[in-house]
Amino acid sequence: MNLIKLKKKPPKLEENLVCPLSGLPLGLRPESGGGAALVTPDRRIFYPRESGVFNLIPDPLPSPLADKAALWRQLQENAMLGYEMAPFLNLFATGGPVARYLAAFMDLRGLVLEVGCGPQRGVPAYIPSENPVVYWGLDPLLGEQPRDFPFLLGMAELLPFGSAVFDSLVYCSCLDHMIDYAQALRQAARVLKPGGCINLALDLIEKSEPRPAWLDKIRRGASQTLRATLRKGPLWALNYALAMARLNTPHGAADPFHWRFPTLSGVKNTLQEAGFKGFVEQQRGGLIFLRAYKD
Ligand SMILES: C[S@@+](CC[C@H](N)C(=O)[O-])C[C@H]1O[C@@H](n2cnc3c(N)ncnc32)[C@H](O)[C@@H]1O
Repeated sequence: MNLIKLKKKPPKLEENLVCPLSGLPLGLRPESGGGAALVTPDRRIFYPRESGVFNLIPDPLPSPLADKAALWRQLQENAMLGYEMAPFLNLFATGGPVARYLAAFMDLRGLVLEVGCGPQRGVPAYIPSENPVVYWGLDPLLGEQPRDFPFLLGMAELLPFGSAVFDSLVYCSCLDHMIDYAQALRQAARVLKPGGCINLALDLIEKSEPRPAWLDKIRRGASQTLRATLRKGPLWALNYALAMARLNTPHGAADPFHWRFPTLSGVKNTLQEAGFKGFVEQQRGGLIFLRAYKD
């Protein structure tokens, strides 16, 4: 007798969204002109669709995130310039050994959400394509459209999903761009299923001993210029370095792109307080890989 295997349909991103402010389910509201928006049951809050992508970033942001919104937007604008000019400086585009190490390090299963997945069209190079997972990406930057994967505009601090939805989460080189990474990690604990895995790649400037910020700026600048030179030649790298040097560092930020660089102990403590255990850690190519499991 032939047994017909019934495959479970993969879940749909737009059917799993909730209001990031209230947690209420969202319904689809057709808009004049053929568009659509997501609305709360009381029809008081709506989230528009831009270029075919739902935007689940509340506007205005709630307090206390609102106090830092202008500064964060400025950093995001600066960073976008960098991603457009030199995408190869980011892990999503580079591939190569570090991306392969990260792919092998992460514990990805079932339904995976990457938070801060980047502005690029394709699935990041560090997400293993042979892994039988369902991959969704979230980022505050619209970036290249259409994406090759289910994508939405959102913020880590206000994840627009119900509780215990995901089997695995990925955060790669993005905690240092967030307004409040501790709130983001608490949200991670909320949306992960018990036993689910959070996978992080951290650019840690300050590992144990704090160093002066100017020294770190020079080290980052030199390393990026060297990589740009190897990839595009010295003249191109010089132009890139000059363009980046012209960007403002908004008052209160670590540099023109980053809010602040969390410490490894700060990240681990926050994860522990949020209910994670079973930490595994590895250092590769200037990044710390960290994974932990929700109790
Ligand atoms: C350096 S890029 C990393 C992209 C990709 N994950 C990689 O490693 O190549 C940082 C990303 O974090 C995103 N980001 C900034 N603030 C965020 C926030 N509050 N919530 C989620 N993502 C954020 C940026 O838009 C950007 O795409």
